[in-house]
Amino acid sequence: MELIEKAPAKINLGLDVLSKRPDGYHELEMIMTSIDLADRLTFQPLPTKEIEIVTNCSFLPLDKKNNIYQTVQLLQQNYGVNEGVRIHLQKEIPVAAGLGGGSSDAAATLRGLNRLWQLNLPMTELEQLGDAIGTDVPYCVQGKTSRVTGRGEIVTTLPPIPPCWVVVAKPKVSVSTGKIFKLVAVEELYHPNISAIEAAILEQNYFEMVNHLGNSLEPVTAKRYPQVHLLKEKFMQFGADGAVMSGSGPTVFGLCHKYSRAKRVYNGLKGFCDHVSIVRTL
Ligand code: C5P
Repeated sequence: MELIEKAPAKINLGLDVLSKRPDGYHELEMIMTSIDLADRLTFQPLPTKEIEIVTNCSFLPLDKKNNIYQTVQLLQQNYGVNEGVRIHLQKEIPVAAGLGGGSSDAAATLRGLNRLWQLNLPMTELEQLGDAIGTDVPYCVQGKTSRVTGRGEIVTTLPPIPPCWVVVAKPKVSVSTGKIFKLVAVEELYHPNISAIEAAILEQNYFEMVNHLGNSLEPVTAKRYPQVHLLKEKFMQFGADGAVMSGSGPTVFGLCHKYSRAKRVYNGLKGFCDHVSIVRTL
């Protein structure tokens, strides 16, 4: 028996950092949606408690440092599972990019093993388990357009965003989320209007949504990696309706109402970046 789960990337249409919490984490307010750029996980049962991960990506750790490994262990421990699993990870989402690839892989592992091991856990329980693995995992369990608050564990589903094309571009640098948060001085941050993005989605007003794209972390990451602002300028020069950094970066995405415009942006950006793609939202 073999099971397959897709693990889509996420983008942040809005990301506001509200405060630093006593536990060292930051209180966030985000609007997230998933895009048609996905890793693919294949699950095969193993008779003993062994955890085996294989991947096409040469530089990923495959031991306890890996989100997928941690997720398998968490399920084995919490539910007394005496079986193991072999997981093949086909990596398509750029790593350390701000696209939630590692979190989505963990969420796909929760969904996949819930089926493989017939645990029959409800989505809400998978979200709670995901909270122990990483900030974006609870969102990624369902991956529906959502307002996400708290540390990242409070997920409120919204309607899908108005239809559009998303051009995703990652500069040739990798960013550690933890390091970017260490550079944050909350009192100096700018705050995007998250409620205005939510209202625009509820009204299905594409241009209003685009007008309010924003990310508190963008100036923080761009100060360290000026490529982020240069890339954003290029998005606008080539005709994107709006562009913003995703997560803690360095990936910037641009939204385009028309495919022809998205194609122009894509062609313009090819060559400057590690990774560029045109995708639909899910
Ligand atoms: O949970 P994840 O591993 O994605 O987070 C990476 C780091 O980002 C955390 O260790 C923490 O330093 C920082 N972070 C934060 N506030 C959040 C989420 C993450 O300070 N809400």
